[in-house]
Amino acid sequence: MQTSILAFRGRRYLWAALALIVICIAAYWIDDPQEPPNGGTLLGYALGTLGALLIVWLTWFGIRKRNYTSTSGSVQGWLSAHVYFGVALLVVVLLHAGFQFGWNVHTLAFVFMVLVIASGLYGVAIYMRYPERLSENRGGASRSELLDQLEDIDRRSRRVAQKLPEPFQEFVTSGIRRTELGSTLWQRLRNEDRSRIQLPGSATTVANQGQEAAMDWLAEQQSRADADSATTIAELSALLRNKRKLLRQVREDLRLQAGIEIWLYAHVPLTAALLMALLTHIVTVFLYW
Ligand code: HEM
Ligand code: HEM
Repeated sequence: MQTSILAFRGRRYLWAALALIVICIAAYWIDDPQEPPNGGTLLGYALGTLGALLIVWLTWFGIRKRNYTSTSGSVQGWLSAHVYFGVALLVVVLLHAGFQFGWNVHTLAFVFMVLVIASGLYGVAIYMRYPERLSENRGGASRSELLDQLEDIDRRSRRVAQKLPEPFQEFVTSGIRRTELGSTLWQRLRNEDRSRIQLPGSATTVANQGQEAAMDWLAEQQSRADADSATTIAELSALLRNKRKLLRQVREDLRLQAGIEIWLYAHVPLTAALLMALLTHIVTVFLYW
């Protein structure tokens, strides 16, 4: 997706959107209404209608995106056009309103529109930067491969713990069961580690951020153990260090993914708010005409 959405087919949609802007500005320049330019002149109505049609078409993208059997162009081409015409819309509507704003529902629609466009720009910036960071962090592996590696480490830890007394097995089981990757988008975004562990001999669980508590406990046991057990505990520690590194990678992966998704939580509801305000704007304009 990255650069190709902006550079799609020789930037054809950039040129098309620029052409639209030039035509609208020229019309505004040439037009000579008998009143200050505003949404109520003939050109004002024409530009308002154009703006409303653009908004409906931009919203349509959400439906188009999910219709994989459609033959009306690639999603990439649509997204490229969406971005350029989404920005051009700002000019169309400014000219429509003749740069006049008051404390009314017209201006409310305008504010929502600007917020949708701003969130869209933010989204494009994210799409340009994040995929590279995602693959860099994954180091060539896919997320499911990282998760497979995690599972493998857990399996090996259980096996190694079998060679040690019962408390070590409980320790490993508790550590695995209470390791959390962040279930909500917010937790993932903030890279919150809510992992806990119940250490042998303790009735309650303790925070196990970055597997720190587990590492400390193992180190303590290792210092007390006889030579034979110490080697096995060292093996367990090495596995845990690998797990910690992998967990960090998976968490970063989820954080970046959440960053890619979060702006849509603004873009889409703001689109709904814009449509409501726009409808009200159009209805009131015709009621009070
Ligand atoms: C079918 C489409 C549209 C029609 C018929 C229409 C009509 C009008 C009319 C008649 C006015 C002048 C109102 C007045 O002076 O009291 C106006 C102003 C305005 N319109 Fe539209 N409009 C349309 C679409 C849009 C769109 C898409 C937006 C932006 C989201 C928008 C934002 C505004 C703004 C900000 C004003 C200026 C308000 C003010 O002067 O306080 N309009 N529109
Ligand atoms: C008022 C103007 C706009 C409206 C009404 C609008 C509306 C929408 C809607 C409904 C979607 C579909 C989201 C979904 O269902 O997942 C979408 C996606 C998107 N919009 Fe906009 N948009 C507007 C302007 C913009 C602008 C100006 C940009 C960028 C500069 C932009 C960037 C994007 C991107 C990158 C997506 C794709 C999201 C994805 O596929 O993950 N939008 N937009």
